[in-house]
Amino acid sequence: MKYEIIVLAAGQGKRMKAGRNKQFLTIQNVPLIIHTLQKFEQDPWCSGIVLVVNEKEVEIFEELLIEYPIQKVQSLTVGGDERQHSVYNGLKSLKQAQMVLIHDGARPFVQQNTIHELVEKAASDKAAVLAVPVKDTIKRVEQGTVIETVERSSLWAIQTPQAFLFDVVMNAHEKAKTNEYLGTDDASLVERAGQKVSIVEGNYDNIKLTTPEDLLYAEAILTKLTRTEGV
Ligand code: CTP
Ligand code: MG
Repeated sequence: MKYEIIVLAAGQGKRMKAGRNKQFLTIQNVPLIIHTLQKFEQDPWCSGIVLVVNEKEVEIFEELLIEYPIQKVQSLTVGGDERQHSVYNGLKSLKQAQMVLIHDGARPFVQQNTIHELVEKAASDKAAVLAVPVKDTIKRVEQGTVIETVERSSLWAIQTPQAFLFDVVMNAHEKAKTNEYLGTDDASLVERAGQKVSIVEGNYDNIKLTTPEDLLYAEAILTKLTRTEGV
C-alpha cells in the first residue's frame, strides 16, 4: 500500500550540543538526514516525501539534496517553532494523500519490513505507531520522592514513523490547534480526538539521535545493519 511521508528536520538539536542542527551530523560520513531519507527513497511503497526544514536552513538542505539526490523530495516545507507546528505545515502541503506517515529526521534506522507492517496496521485501524517494550523500571516522582512504581508490562516507548489515514491526522491537528493543545507526538492528538491508536512492535535499533552519546551508538548500529542486512 502506497503512502506519503512527512520527514521532520526543522528542529535545532539543542540537546545534541553540536552548535548546529543535528540533521547535518554525519554517521559513517553521510549526513544523518540523508540516511533517513534514503530509507524512504528505497521503499517502493513510499510515493513522496515532504521534508520540513527551518526557514533559515532551506538553502543548506537544497545544497545537500544536490550532493545526495533524493528523487522523492519534490519540495521543502518550512517548519514552525514546535514539532507539532512543523507537522501541521507538512500536512497542509500534502495535496493528495490517503495514508500519511510522520517521521523524525533524526531516526535513521527504521527498517522496511517494519514500515510495511505499520502501514498495513494503519490501513485497517486508521492509526498506528511503532513502539518497543520499556526495559527500565519507571517510577513517578514528585519533589524527589517516589509516588508510584508504574507496572512495566503496560509501558511502551513510542517511536516514529506514526501512520494515519490523512483525514484522521489532519482533523486531529486542526482540533489541537483550535484547543491550543500541544502534544509530544502526533498519536496523542489523534487519541484526544477520540480515535483508537494501534501499536506495532518495532525494533530497539530505531533510535532517535538526541544527545551526544547517541552518535557513537548510531555508528555501531549502522555497522551492525550493514553487516547483517547489506544496507
Ligand atoms: N522538529 C521539527 N520542528 C521543530 C522541532 C523539532 O521539525 N520545531 C523535528 C526535529 O528536527 C527532529 C524531530 O522533530 O527530527 C524530533 O525532535 P527532537 O529530537 O526533539 O529534535 P530537535 O528539536 O532538533 O532537538 P532538541 O529538542 O534537542 O532541540
Ligand atoms: Mg525538540
